This record gives sequence, C-alpha cells and structure tokens, in this order.
Amino acid sequence: MLIGAARTPAELDAMVARRAAGLPLEHVVGWAEFCGLRIAVDPRVFVPRRRTEFLVGHAIALARQAAGDDAAGPGRLAADSGGRAPARRRAVVVDLCCGSGAAGAAVAAALGGRIELHAADIDPAAVRCARRNLAASAQVHEGDLYDPLPAALRGRVDVLIANVPYVPTGEVGLLPPEARIHEERVALDGGADGLDVMRRVTAAAPLWLAPGGHLLVETSERQAPQAAGILARGGLTPRVASSSEMNVTVVIGTRPARQSEPGG
Ligand SMILES: C[S@@+](CC[C@H](N)C(=O)[O-])C[C@H]1O[C@@H](n2cnc3c(N)ncnc32)[C@H](O)[C@@H]1O
Repeated sequence: MLIGAARTPAELDAMVARRAAGLPLEHVVGWAEFCGLRIAVDPRVFVPRRRTEFLVGHAIALARQAAGDDAAGPGRLAADSGGRAPARRRAVVVDLCCGSGAAGAAVAAALGGRIELHAADIDPAAVRCARRNLAASAQVHEGDLYDPLPAALRGRVDVLIANVPYVPTGEVGLLPPEARIHEERVALDGGADGLDVMRRVTAAAPLWLAPGGHLLVETSERQAPQAAGILARGGLTPRVASSSEMNVTVVIGTRPARQSEPGG
C-alpha cells in the first residue's frame, strides 16, 4: 500500500518511517477502504474498522425498507395505492458519533440519492474529515451527541447509526498502539463498563426515532446482553446480530410502531 501511495522514493522512505514509528497505515496514506469506498482519514481521527461493515449492512437493509425499496418491508403505504405498494421516499438516516463519516457515506452510496443523511461528532477534526467524505450527501454537525442535530429531525429518524466508543476504561491501555496512541481517547473510552455513551444515546433515542425506526450500536460479544437490556429499558425492542467471521456484534433496537411520542 505504501508503494502504491508514494509518488517518489523519498516520499516512500518518509511513509515507511512513519508507519515503523507506529502510525496506523490509514493515517500514513490518508485513507481507509470501507464498504468498497475510499474514506479520507485525517491524523488522530478514528480509523473506520472493517468489522463495522456488518453494522452498515444492517443499516442499509433497514434504510431500504424505510425508503420503500423492499415491498415486504415496512415502507409507508402511499395514500393512493390502495394499500398495495409501499410509497418510495427518502429514508432519514443519522450517523451519530460519525468519526470520518464512513458509515454514513456507505449507506448514502448504497441508497443513491434517496436518503436524508445527517452526521454528527464532538471532535472537530472528525467533523472536518466527515464533511470531506460526505460532501454534498449529508449535513455534518459538531457537538455532543444529539445536541447539534436540527430539532426538525425529532420523531423522523428511520435509521440511527451509533458506533459509539465502547472500550471499558480499564481496557483502553490494552489496545494496540495504533489506537491507544494515535486515536483520540474520546473515540475509544466508553466508561467503566464501556457502555456509558451507549446509555446516553439510548436514553434520548425514542425522542428522535420515527415510529418503527431503528437504533444500531456495535458492541463486544461480552457486552451484548447488557446492551440489549439497556435498549429494552429505553423503550426499544432489541435484537442481537453477530458474525463470528467478522468478529463483531451489533445490537439493533426498534421503536415500536405505535408508541406515542415521549412526553407528547
Ligand atoms: C468508535 S469511534 C466511531 C467513529 C465512526 N462511527 C466509525 O465507525 O468509524 C467513536 C466516535 O464517537 C465520537 N464521540 C465520542 N463521544 C461523543 C459525544 N459525546 N458526542 C459526539 N461524538 C462523540 C468520537 O469523537 C469518535 O469519532
């Protein structure tokens, strides 16, 4: 990869030196491959992990259903369709804790133009990077979790992707140096049991999700039962999906279709 990326022998020497000093390969070349896309990754911004493609696959399927692509899915019925065909519309997707914006970019690429995409992150470097990767396909907001999202999204989000930090504080020191040293702590540390950010995301999720909308979080296999419990207590119907091949677990929480607006 370095040979392919360097334009001169001198540049190759410099890249090899940076990699040998422990910089992640993606930070050296400036991009990561994710879902077949080339995602720009600036220094210190979280490198999108290949295992997160599993979460994105589920997000794409759910966004397609919401957009009415899947006749068997819960797409909204057109008023004049006599209940026969789901109306095709733009799915509303939010990529919370978006980092480089890789997950949102992959969903946008799969859905073509039929998506209203918002992304948000607290780290200004991540937000700058996501704005480049998502360009015209999304609005990218900077701030704490839902704080920077437009209020008009409340109760309208079909698919809420939240690949939040989930490493327990006591285990951050055990991560490979590429993560421990070269990615921001805020991108990794999920608190004592790793689930603190997920708890905060879940607590407010029913306010933002459309009826029947979905929250998707990645966890470790060990955390999954606890994460499913947190989603259930937050009023969402949880299901766990995992892939041993990709070594990844995703918990999907669905807002019941007929639940009333919290506080409304
Ligand atoms: C594990 S990384 C995932 C990044 C991206 N979703 C991906 O899969 O490549 C977690 C991201 O959450 C962001 N983050 C952590 N706490 C946050 C908060 N309170 N509000 C918004 N973003 C936060 C970090 O800056 C980091 O970019």
